[in-house]
Amino acid sequence: MEISSILYSMLCMFAFVVFFLFLIHSLISKLFFTPSSPKLPLPPGSLGWPYVGETFQLYSQNPNVFFASKQKRFGSIFKTHILGCPCVMISSPEAAKFVLVTRSHLFKPTFPASKERMLGKQAIFFHQGDYHAKLRKLVLRAFMPEAIRSIVPAIESIAKDSLQSWEGRLINTFQEMKTFTFNVALLSIFGKDEILYREDLKRCYYILEKGYNSMPINLPGTLFHKSMKARKELAQILAKIISTRRQRKQVEDHKDLLGSFMGDKEGLTDQQIADNVIGVIFAARDTTASVLTWIVKYLGENPSVLQAVTEEQEAIMRTKEEEEGDDEGNQKALSWADTKKMPMTSRVIQETLRVASILSFTFREAVEDVEYEGYLIPKGWKVLPLFRNIHHSPEIFPEPEKFDPSRFEVAPKPNTYMPFGSGTHSCPGNELAKLEILVLLHHLTTKYRWSMVGAQNGIQYGPFALPQNGLPIRLCPKT
Ligand code: HEM
Repeated sequence: MEISSILYSMLCMFAFVVFFLFLIHSLISKLFFTPSSPKLPLPPGSLGWPYVGETFQLYSQNPNVFFASKQKRFGSIFKTHILGCPCVMISSPEAAKFVLVTRSHLFKPTFPASKERMLGKQAIFFHQGDYHAKLRKLVLRAFMPEAIRSIVPAIESIAKDSLQSWEGRLINTFQEMKTFTFNVALLSIFGKDEILYREDLKRCYYILEKGYNSMPINLPGTLFHKSMKARKELAQILAKIISTRRQRKQVEDHKDLLGSFMGDKEGLTDQQIADNVIGVIFAARDTTASVLTWIVKYLGENPSVLQAVTEEQEAIMRTKEEEEGDDEGNQKALSWADTKKMPMTSRVIQETLRVASILSFTFREAVEDVEYEGYLIPKGWKVLPLFRNIHHSPEIFPEPEKFDPSRFEVAPKPNTYMPFGSGTHSCPGNELAKLEILVLLHHLTTKYRWSMVGAQNGIQYGPFALPQNGLPIRLCPKT
């Protein structure tokens, strides 16, 4: 057979497959996704190939390039189709406010079922309404400034131990920061008892996390299966901690997250407590570790900013040296008030959160047909507020790719800066995250120098944006 006729038959077969997929797609769309309000148009954009939609376009490149090019072509609200779901993506501050704040009741949080199974179906992220409001009150009670100010010295001691253990070694910054943020998360959940359970909880949690991005096949030998087993063990450890606390209830009055969940009036079941403890560790650890990793990178690349931060922190260190230390002559511990005297360092954190935008977007699902700016967002469609696009808009943040903490000398306009989300599901741990970052930076900049090792331009997603290879650095004490 001639080459041209082989090619011709292959083309015919390809056309047939595409036609067949198109038919199935139209059928599925008609059955499940046909909007019930026919008058309004859908937002502009394309739904891509039958069934697979634009999933390949999204994952064959940096996802942020996909979002940015779509926004350039279609504007700040556009439709697409990824991972089997029709979606509307939004990238204006007004639309984000509409979805997350003013009409948040019309958009419920949505996650893959396998994530729900791993974190636990009762965890705060998956809920709306009364149960969500109750959990949120309990979480906020444990993480508001009045509650966390007393743990500053304990966070400081974790930070000092971490830095000491990195001295003279070539370290993977992200991995080490994960250990630091894990220990701080446990401290905020279990208070000073944290140290008793640290190793067991760490062993189980580290197996559990390996399954987060695995195929959800629960058969012996699979990552998912091992994860689910580790999750069960975690729940057992937590049940033991809870029962020990119940036995000693009259004697101790815990101000930590577990204490807040276990309050008599709250009536949470052990299952609900376990799901939310695991959920908070999940929400607290990699996010904060990833931001810390970016800060180490940006400070390393911007010597004048590092100098300004170091001077600010050295001034605080000097005032601490002048204060009276403990009986053994140790310097006085950092206090909550000290962390409020770090405006330059705080701006570095703000700018890192903007430039890195580690949570580039979040997911919601329309619970009914919703009209926005003359467009229809059909019931059941996913809605993605694109935080990163807003943080990288040149109209809002001039020269958006430039790392320039001084831009935060003036407060950003409302709804233009949402590193911790916005509205009903916004981050209740943001004060703790900022606090632990400030404390670690105090000791890092006053006592250590570091140099980055290897290529530094790549970004990896795991799932949060991270410098390539977790940013290998070498750290040594200042002489
Ligand atoms: C720099 C670090 C962090 C960043 C950038 C971050 C970011 C976010 C964002 C954007 C959301 C909202 C997600 C959405 O609307 O779908 C969120 C929710 C949440 N975060 Fe954080 N977070 C960080 C650290 C923490 C810490 C340290 C904790 C706990 C101690 C925490 C606990 C939570 C919880 C429980 C939720 C869910 C709230 C709800 O559904 O009502 N986060 N976080």
